[in-house]
Amino acid sequence: MKNILIINGPNLNLIGTREVEIYGKISINEIEEICINEGKNLSINIDFRQTNNEGEIINWIHEVNSKFDGLIINPAGYTHTSIAILDSLKTVDKPKIEIHLSNIHAREDYRKKSITSEGVEGTISGFGIHSYTLALKAISNLLK
Ligand code: DQA
Repeated sequence: MKNILIINGPNLNLIGTREVEIYGKISINEIEEICINEGKNLSINIDFRQTNNEGEIINWIHEVNSKFDGLIINPAGYTHTSIAILDSLKTVDKPKIEIHLSNIHAREDYRKKSITSEGVEGTISGFGIHSYTLALKAISNLLK
């Protein structure tokens, strides 16, 4: 079994009710359940977390080298602002994938630039909940 950390950034605790026309009606708890089930199919244990705090995201990223085989991160709003999260991603020497529920390239100009994506192997954006399951398949392939 491989161990993967999935980090969800600010306001993702509210999906399911927040801007449903963009993010859909699935809650963060349902996403966690879907990820855990998909993980079982891929022999991956999932540690699924959400926080609204930038520092907590950074502390969690610092756990990856010693405790996990890879990282999937939806930095949410911090995607477009956080050099500190980018710096912490650059310290991780395990596979990392950035994901977004929505297609950030098809939205407002300020969302088109991802600062954090410079620190990951690849990004998946725009497939709703499937962004998470596609990332699990991708990270499973990277770990083979
Ligand atoms: C998001 C896209 C971000 O631009 C936004 O700030 C979010 C969610 C997504 O999953 O589509 O909070 O990361």
